[in-house]
Amino acid sequence: MAQADRQETERLDGTPQGVARAAGMLRAGGLVGFPTETVYGLGADARNDRAVAGIFAAKGRPAFNPLIVHVADAASAERLAEMPEAARRLAAAFWPGPLTLVLPLRADAGVSPLVTAGLTTVGLRVPAHPLARALLAGAGCPVAAPSANPSGRVSPTTADHVLAGLSGRIDAVLDGGACPVGLESTILGFAPGPVILRAGGVTAEALEAVLGAPVGQAAPSERPTAPGQLASHYAPHAPLRLNAATRRPDERFVGFGPPPPGVAPELTLSATGDLTEAAARLFAVLHALDAGGDGPVAVAPVPDRGLGRAINDRLRRAAAPRG
Ligand code: TXA
Ligand code: MG
Repeated sequence: MAQADRQETERLDGTPQGVARAAGMLRAGGLVGFPTETVYGLGADARNDRAVAGIFAAKGRPAFNPLIVHVADAASAERLAEMPEAARRLAAAFWPGPLTLVLPLRADAGVSPLVTAGLTTVGLRVPAHPLARALLAGAGCPVAAPSANPSGRVSPTTADHVLAGLSGRIDAVLDGGACPVGLESTILGFAPGPVILRAGGVTAEALEAVLGAPVGQAAPSERPTAPGQLASHYAPHAPLRLNAATRRPDERFVGFGPPPPGVAPELTLSATGDLTEAAARLFAVLHALDAGGDGPVAVAPVPDRGLGRAINDRLRRAAAPRG
């Protein structure tokens, strides 16, 4: 669709009619925000250069940053990329779900080179959210989709977050309510052994249980192919102080588990100290901090195990000095 058609962003409900309209927009080269179980994605037909270029324009995203391609099932993934045996096993265990596999791109895949930023690999994922699945089925094409936020800002976990960041710059958002996982997918590459490029919704422990072998963790400096790891990604306006045992007088406090004595947390990731709930709430809490001003914020420690690793990764980047 022409840029001029994009002045008003439609909010579509999750009825078959809403899904069909969103799918038609994708087929016509439009840009559509849609819910996945992790975060909202900003989708475009992955084969359409102009549509994919529109994603970068709408997000203000550096064009060297490759996009994840969303497909309906593992058979569709195999048409786009070569899947080693370990990848097949992980796909069988975790798709549909919050796992992105970075795999060698097939020469005849037909994916726009803008999607892979010229790399010989492609990141593929089969999302589990029923509306994402209905949209992929209706569109009938692979859908390139980064998170549906302006580049460098907090990822969206509701349709309102998408509209707050991108209204007027995309054709529509399909409203599926709040995203259940709330953190982006785990990104796993093969180099050639399995290596986590980004911690996310599937834990290292779960991957290792399926593979029966340890999974590597790429250090930030070893991640040139996952430039979404830019230091100040996910940044809210407020400066964050992490692993805070106490609250200073001028600070707002984000809790995890019981608050320190004398501190009533205005916001909590999980009052009961539940990592799954904390993951689901993380980005909504960061959005709420933005809505409440830009004064300093202290964040309680979150244990660095299971989903806590992905939560701490996002918090560290939310707290990083701004470039
Ligand atoms: O949960 C998710 O993954 C969400 C939903 C919408 O699916 N998507 C998402 O996309 O988080 P995005 O663009 O915000 O992050 C994609 C990450 C980036 O860090 C990018 O560099 C990396 O995936 N990536 C994509 N293709 C890659 C490739 N071929 N090799 C290495 N990294 C890749
Ligand atoms: Mg993102």
